[in-house]
Amino acid sequence: MSFNLRNRSLLDLKDFPPRAIRYLIDLAAELKRSKAAGNELPRLKGKNIALIFEKASTRTRCAFEVAVHDQGGHVTYIDPASSQLSHKESLKDTARVLGRMFDGIEYRGFHQSVVEDIARYSRVPVWNGLTDEAHPTQVLADLMTMQEFGEKPLHEMSFCYLGDARFNMGCSLLVGGTQMGMDVRIAAPTALQPPAALVAQMRELALTTGARITLQTDPLQAVVGADFLYTDVWVSMGEADEVWKHRIDQLLPYQVSTALMQATGKPRTRFMHCLPAFHNLDTEVGRQVYERYGLKEIEVTDEVFESDASVVFTQAENRLHTIKAVLVATLA
Ligand code: CP
Repeated sequence: MSFNLRNRSLLDLKDFPPRAIRYLIDLAAELKRSKAAGNELPRLKGKNIALIFEKASTRTRCAFEVAVHDQGGHVTYIDPASSQLSHKESLKDTARVLGRMFDGIEYRGFHQSVVEDIARYSRVPVWNGLTDEAHPTQVLADLMTMQEFGEKPLHEMSFCYLGDARFNMGCSLLVGGTQMGMDVRIAAPTALQPPAALVAQMRELALTTGARITLQTDPLQAVVGADFLYTDVWVSMGEADEVWKHRIDQLLPYQVSTALMQATGKPRTRFMHCLPAFHNLDTEVGRQVYERYGLKEIEVTDEVFESDASVVFTQAENRLHTIKAVLVATLA
């Protein structure tokens, strides 16, 4: 199946119809096979891509850089510390400058309105590398990973996202899962459920895609029958350190443990996480949380993270293939 996405921006999965998402996942699988076989065609020769990161990144930055290099293009990395971005020049002016030099722009930052403005003023394709509201390239990789491990079509699969569902990951998984017609469960305390307006919009969309959407506060009930359990860090980039105490109190019952994996009732349920993850004391933040609150593992236990059920590193690898698919589809 082919789908014309040329010159389109990817700001939120909501902007793309389900068949475009399916096309991108299929194209990513084809690109993954070509790379492994060593016969990838360079379809971004002569293309210059700007990568704007107002927040830190390992996977998203590396995936964009490797994807562009694999396809014969060139990247320029821009952050606030080493450019005029934000402190001396508005994003509107920066977007108009970059649009005159680059064929496309990736942006990671805070508000969704900023990535929308960059697309408006640069007039070149813009790809959202994470805002507070959406992380579309992550969810493309997640859907690809579910397709690889799920052993049935996406619309017959179920996943449960556990944790703080108000922000980019909870919201984008809700959107992506609904578009693919999946059984989408969100397990979170009432205060941390996705925005009501988004839930209403997705329930409306579900009438056409066949998705089933369940919002639960009880994690043990929410996970029954789920093919995938998915979680993310409990305190997002940009939130104050002081929120840890309250967030731990709210979310400890939603920690993905072996008991919760078993509560699905399915021996082949897989564990997913967009990473980075706090599953041991090998990180500075992990050690600080342990010293202050006595918690050695946070959103997922080390046992689950390191188990055969965990597909987190395939998920991370699939960031490369799905981002490459987005670049090829919108630029080549
Ligand atoms: N999952 C994800 O976006 O990772 P990075 O923050 O490392 O890019």
